[in-house]
Amino acid sequence: MEENILRSSNWFGRKGKDGFIYRAWMKNQGIPADMFEGKPVIGICNTWSELTPCNGHFRELAEAVKKGVLEAGGFPVEFPVMSLGETLIKPTAMLYRNLVSMDVEESIRANPIDGVVLLCGCDKTTPSLVMGACSVNLPTLVISGGPMLKGHWKGKDIGTSDVWRFDVASKLGQITDKEFVEAEACMARTPGHCAVMGTASTMAVMVEALGLSLPDNASIPAADARRKVLSQLSGRRIVEMVKEDLKLSKVLSRKAFENAIMINAAIGGSTNFVIHLLAIAARIGVELNISDFDKYSQGIPLLANIQPSGDNYMEDLYYSGGLPAVIKEMSSVIHNDAITVNGKSMGENCAASEVYNRNIISTMQDPFKPESGILVVRGNLAPNGAVIKPSAASPALLKHSGKAVVFENIEDYHLRIDDPELDIDADSIMVLKNVGPKGYPGMAEVGNMALPKKLLEQGVTDMVRISDGRMSGTGFGTVVLHVSPEAAVGGVLALVKNGDIIRLDAHNRTLQLEVSEEELAERRSAWVPTEKLHSRGYVHLYQSHVEQAHLGADMDFLKGGSGSEVARDSH
Ligand code: FES
Repeated sequence: MEENILRSSNWFGRKGKDGFIYRAWMKNQGIPADMFEGKPVIGICNTWSELTPCNGHFRELAEAVKKGVLEAGGFPVEFPVMSLGETLIKPTAMLYRNLVSMDVEESIRANPIDGVVLLCGCDKTTPSLVMGACSVNLPTLVISGGPMLKGHWKGKDIGTSDVWRFDVASKLGQITDKEFVEAEACMARTPGHCAVMGTASTMAVMVEALGLSLPDNASIPAADARRKVLSQLSGRRIVEMVKEDLKLSKVLSRKAFENAIMINAAIGGSTNFVIHLLAIAARIGVELNISDFDKYSQGIPLLANIQPSGDNYMEDLYYSGGLPAVIKEMSSVIHNDAITVNGKSMGENCAASEVYNRNIISTMQDPFKPESGILVVRGNLAPNGAVIKPSAASPALLKHSGKAVVFENIEDYHLRIDDPELDIDADSIMVLKNVGPKGYPGMAEVGNMALPKKLLEQGVTDMVRISDGRMSGTGFGTVVLHVSPEAAVGGVLALVKNGDIIRLDAHNRTLQLEVSEEELAERRSAWVPTEKLHSRGYVHLYQSHVEQAHLGADMDFLKGGSGSEVARDSH
């Protein structure tokens, strides 16, 4: 690529007053002109924030990227965007995923940037940045922050999935309040995102599987020096990508998306993967629908023995060969010729990988679990589909019918779940309404409702739970999620009453409410929306435009992209 067609030359290469202004206000940062004139300008989109603890080490990673960019003859410019810390943001980080994607998109397009490095970590920081970048479609490379090292407590390894277990143990008086608090520091003891195959790790796997990162991005721990090496090498590579004009749309082919779905199944990835991948595909213009997740998961067993579907942690995956070793095991099923950001194919990137520990990465012939991935169930209760993760469910409950115990919203659930008078037993099906995209709003991660204390005391460990919400990637159980259409827009979920019989048959992909059409019609005519619609600000915009879960829960006007052209030039 010739230097004079660099996008940034439309800023720094100009003559007269305009060029003067563009250059002078870079020079006031103490930057010599030959640093940025005629060189690929690389934006480093940083989600560092002390309110996003998982991304707390990103300033160091950004410095490593800058070194690499400079070494390769580019000019790095770091810029912030809104950062989404899963643990602190209320009511749910998902409410703001689309807002951040707008921030990212407009920040990239509006500035003299030729290529972008996205620094992603905590759950929503990955899809929001990738979605925004897709709508601009410049050469783009992703670096994930890496997982924490696993925690240690009382001689045991622990990670985020144990939070659910500690909660149950605490309710049952099996651990003291002091022990509960002590475990916090023992679990989150290093920089990085959740150490299990939660949503952040799933997203890191997703970008590597899509070909958007250098190999091994997914599993190198945040605390491992090789994470900085990967960042520096990524900095070098993005400069080359600009010269090769290797845009996002060249990497994000239909094959890349199919690879991502198959690889997500093999690693036991989060159900949140569905909603984010659908949104990314719609931004870059690749046809993908919710049935594709079921279709391409078929026949892919669980190869990675990582919590919550398995027993181990992300660092164990790295020491055992990392994601490239998993992908190599899948070479007979994936698209080996899908191109990746380093210019090589997926097959080439993984060809030399080895598995060092068969307790962590299995073969396709002798997997940890025969069934993995995402099952999409449909029926009158979810005409547009709902999802379930079989590797995190109890096999015996995947086919189950029971009486509905209905909670009208999350407050109703909290109010009544531990009421000794609640009419519920182990065969009941817990139904939670109004936690979907529009209703909550933001589709909260509350779908894996904790079981009633009185049933926990009886030794019950799992029940079928159904909602229009999501589940943390670190969660587990027989949980039907993302019911579409959601209750707040009048989906059949809104019409379920206590005592109704619900039949789940995940193997046959059905979810049926055993109530006659006549009765449902009667209930529908009496139904009134119960959830508040906000009248101002971003939440109003979100509720007015957010789409249903089976479409990716993006806002309707954000689908597709506007490219990198700037419509008007005021200077
Ligand atoms: Fe950030 Fe789990 S809380 S990744």
